[in-house]
Amino acid sequence: MKILLRGIIFLLVSLSVPKGYGKGQIPFLQKTGAVTQLIVDGGPFIILGGELGNSSASTIIYMTPVWPKLKALHLNTVLMPVYWELIEKEEGKYDFSLVEQLISEARKNELKVIILWFASWKNSMSSHAPVWIKLNQEKYPRVRDDKGRSHEILTPFSENNLQADLRAFTAFMNFIRDFDGKKHTVIMIQVENEIGMLPTARDYHPEADLAFQKAVPGQLMDYLEGNRDRLMPWLQDVWKNNGFKTSGNWEEVFGKGLEADEIFMAWHFSRFANRIIEAGKEIYPLPMFVNAALNRPNREPGSGYPSAGPLPHLVDIWKAAGPEIDFLAPDIYFPNLKHWCDQYVLQGDPLFIPEHRFDRTAAAKSLYVIGHYAALGFSPFSIESNEDPGNDPLGKSYALINELKPLILSRQVQGMTDGVLLDKENQETVLRMGKYGITFRHDHTLGWSPGAKEEEWPATGAIIIRTGEDEFYVAGSGVVATFRPADDESLNAGILKTEEGRFENGGWKILRHLNGDQTHQGRHLRIPVGDVGIQRMELYIYK
Ligand code: DGJ
Repeated sequence: MKILLRGIIFLLVSLSVPKGYGKGQIPFLQKTGAVTQLIVDGGPFIILGGELGNSSASTIIYMTPVWPKLKALHLNTVLMPVYWELIEKEEGKYDFSLVEQLISEARKNELKVIILWFASWKNSMSSHAPVWIKLNQEKYPRVRDDKGRSHEILTPFSENNLQADLRAFTAFMNFIRDFDGKKHTVIMIQVENEIGMLPTARDYHPEADLAFQKAVPGQLMDYLEGNRDRLMPWLQDVWKNNGFKTSGNWEEVFGKGLEADEIFMAWHFSRFANRIIEAGKEIYPLPMFVNAALNRPNREPGSGYPSAGPLPHLVDIWKAAGPEIDFLAPDIYFPNLKHWCDQYVLQGDPLFIPEHRFDRTAAAKSLYVIGHYAALGFSPFSIESNEDPGNDPLGKSYALINELKPLILSRQVQGMTDGVLLDKENQETVLRMGKYGITFRHDHTLGWSPGAKEEEWPATGAIIIRTGEDEFYVAGSGVVATFRPADDESLNAGILKTEEGRFENGGWKILRHLNGDQTHQGRHLRIPVGDVGIQRMELYIYK
């Protein structure tokens, strides 16, 4: 009763705050035009994140030396697991003291937190389920593969499994609301981790088999019919190849084979996650998302990659079954970042990268995804693994983004920001910004750039912000830009002014007026490899 009353009061308070910029409001997502922003404490926020290694948040002791590293890397947000097996060691008895302490530490370090709910599934397995779940297979059944063997994976077809996770999650959300409802240290929740099915594409538990014989739910058929022309191409093809049937069981509508298996599982995984999220949001409506272990090209679901996760080709299935899921997020460990991001934004959904390999490309990529995709944020995995965080290029990119934050956030909703990502294979990108075409090239395309002759070129990148008809800020490293009028080939574009500087107390402070060799006598803007900085330039058009 007390809990119910608290819920009602909380709901009334949050409903009475006007949509927009209420300071006391729970973090929420706001779409303006094509851009979705995360609003935290009265203003839009960019997640300069890092995800902890899987076991790091399991004790306070282990985390003690980690916090200064996160600060040295200029993070504003840490992605931190909460482990079901540690918060509910005994069935129905919840202990959130570890989480409470970790959130308090985050506050001391001026960090926001994104919780990773490691419960029913973590990388397709159920290793984080409490002992009492693992030992009671009768009540909490496992998936079966096509040989009838069970694995340490909870089946999504069991109501007992769902209710156990749901009870723990609602207890957790009650705790977050009570402990953090005013301070908003926790800004989003990732529910489960890399949901997917291994070692077979679908579950063969008897309950799963039963569901597989049933008709495809009307909710999915309606979605497919209503969005027929804008479905992700793979799904559109699968459905088309079976004659765009509007009723029947899974194999009738999607054909016999791995496609139907994967679509069926995706539907049920998404429904499961959706029910958890729905219940959590009733208590405390933070933005909630799911993340994906990406599929290897030309590999089969269930053996070559975890089947049925929130993958690009399954976006529509996840969205149809999971209206409460705010967005689907890719974990990027493959090199072709653009390819993956393009698919996740194809239907106008926001982009957030909760995990990226913490490699030498991460610094450039963080600039690119914020600039080009107006991403909610970026977050390399195993962020504490860096032994020299003060000198990591990622920290330099994050500091730059932080400095430019007001400008980025105000201009991205007007479509006036973009980004470039360059390396030896992709040496050049042309952007159209207002009345100018700007060609960005890798710094090493200049023959005289030290390192130009090297076998490997570092990934470089920049954010570009247009602040007026002829005014731009370029922030990043290892790029050279040249200009032309976008609409009239017969005219030329030149540089009126280039400055190197920084933002201090909201104002632009010039550190150097750049010209001569630094602009190749007025021919280009350049931030060499090795330098990380911001330049402001004014262009003009002449005959
Ligand atoms: C992706 C997972 O989501 C992480 O939790 C972690 O297991 C990494 N893979 C390891 O590379």
